[in-house]
This record gives sequence, structure tokens and C-alpha cells, in this order.
Amino acid sequence: MELIAQGAEAKLFRQGKTLVKERVSKEYRCRELDRKIRRERTALEANLLKKAKNIGVNVPNLIETDKEGAKITMEFIEGKRTKDALNEKNFEKICLEIGKNIGKLHSYGIIHGDLTTSNILQDKKGKLFFIDFGLGFNGRKTEDRAVDLIVFKKTFEATHHKLMPKGWELILEGYAKENREQAGLVLKQIEKVEKRGRYH
Ligand SMILES: Nc1ncnc2c1ncn2[C@@H]1O[C@H](COP(=O)(O)OP(=O)(O)O)[C@@H](O)[C@H]1O
Ligand SMILES: [Mg+2]
Repeated sequence: MELIAQGAEAKLFRQGKTLVKERVSKEYRCRELDRKIRRERTALEANLLKKAKNIGVNVPNLIETDKEGAKITMEFIEGKRTKDALNEKNFEKICLEIGKNIGKLHSYGIIHGDLTTSNILQDKKGKLFFIDFGLGFNGRKTEDRAVDLIVFKKTFEATHHKLMPKGWELILEGYAKENREQAGLVLKQIEKVEKRGRYH
């Protein structure tokens, strides 16, 4: 097994065509609570992966869930992070597609929780795969949908400033294509939160 990434929450290993995501323990947490949290987050992430696949959003195939060991085994996506793949030539199509997929996740009650272009992979054919549902949850509130997008917008602006504002507009256009009614409410909420931010 080859360690390919280690974040605050998990270690990721590649094993041939599969990827193992193992949640690591946090020393500062009491042991029993720590195990409980890791078990629950593992189960939730696996469920969100299954649900996303069922509604037609591309995610890696889930192979195995080991709740006790806090490990998820999934298909390894050979390709690049969208963060590294996006450029001034290809961004229009990709941004629209990203927006459509987020719109779909939201309209089926999935909040991703950590939308960034590092958490969207692109395989060799250019197909997008959403990963890292580790902070995700089931929710249908306009507020939760708005926050999911605001978090994404902040990192998107910072990482892809050359593609602004068009890139973000296309993401929202794609989002609205999936569900106009929901999008109208969410966009209003985003404006409200952004205005609040400006005056405080
Ligand atoms: N299924 C996968 N196929 C290929 N690479 C992956 C896969 N899942 C994760 N990765 C790689 O590992 C990195 C970290 O995984 P991620 O699930 O985002 O964990 P973290 O919570 O640590 O951010 C990703 O940015 C990506 O580069
Ligand atoms: Mg990640």
C-alpha cells in the first residue's frame, strides 16, 4: 500500500486500482468518543457516496466499508484534481458541469460540506468525479445549500482568480439548470450572507 495523502482527518492509500481512506484518531479526543466519531463519519461518508452514485453524480465506486476500522475502500480515479486541470481554455465546460452536479446533489438532499476544486477529480477522459464527502450530510435547508456554495466560492476565487468572474457565473448557471426554484432561493440567501459580511 502506498500512502498518497495525509490530511487532518484521514490517511489515503493506493492499492492498485483501489483507494483506501482511513480515518485517523485524534489524540486530544477521549478514546471511546474518538472511535465513535470515526465510525459514524465513515458510515456517513460511505452512505453519501452511495446516494450520490444513485442520483447520477459521478463519484468513485464504493468497494467496501469497514466501520470498525474506520476505513472506506473505493475505486482509484486515475487522473488529476480539477484544481490542477482547470485553465483559461477548458474552464467554461467544466464549470458548467460542476455547477450542474452540485445542483443535483442539493436537490436530492446532499450537502457536500467541503466543495473545492481539489475535491473534484477529472479522469483521463475528462469525466468529473466528486470525492471527499467526509464533512457532508443529508440536508434540504436553503441555508445549508447557500453555505455549501459560499465555502466553494471563497476557495474558487482564491485558487482560480484568473477565471473570475466568468467561472463562478458558469457554476451558478449550471446549478440553476438542475433546479431553478431551489437556485433562486439559494442565490438570494448567498447575497444576504455576503451583504451581512460586508457590513460587519
Ligand atoms: N478515489 C480517489 N481516486 C484518486 N485519488 C483520490 C481518491 N480519493 C482521494 N484521492 C486523493 O487524495 C486526496 C485526499 O482525499 P480526500 O478524500 O479529499 O481526503 P481529505 O479529507 O484528507 O481531504 C484528494 O485530494 C485526491 O488527490
Ligand atoms: Mg479533500
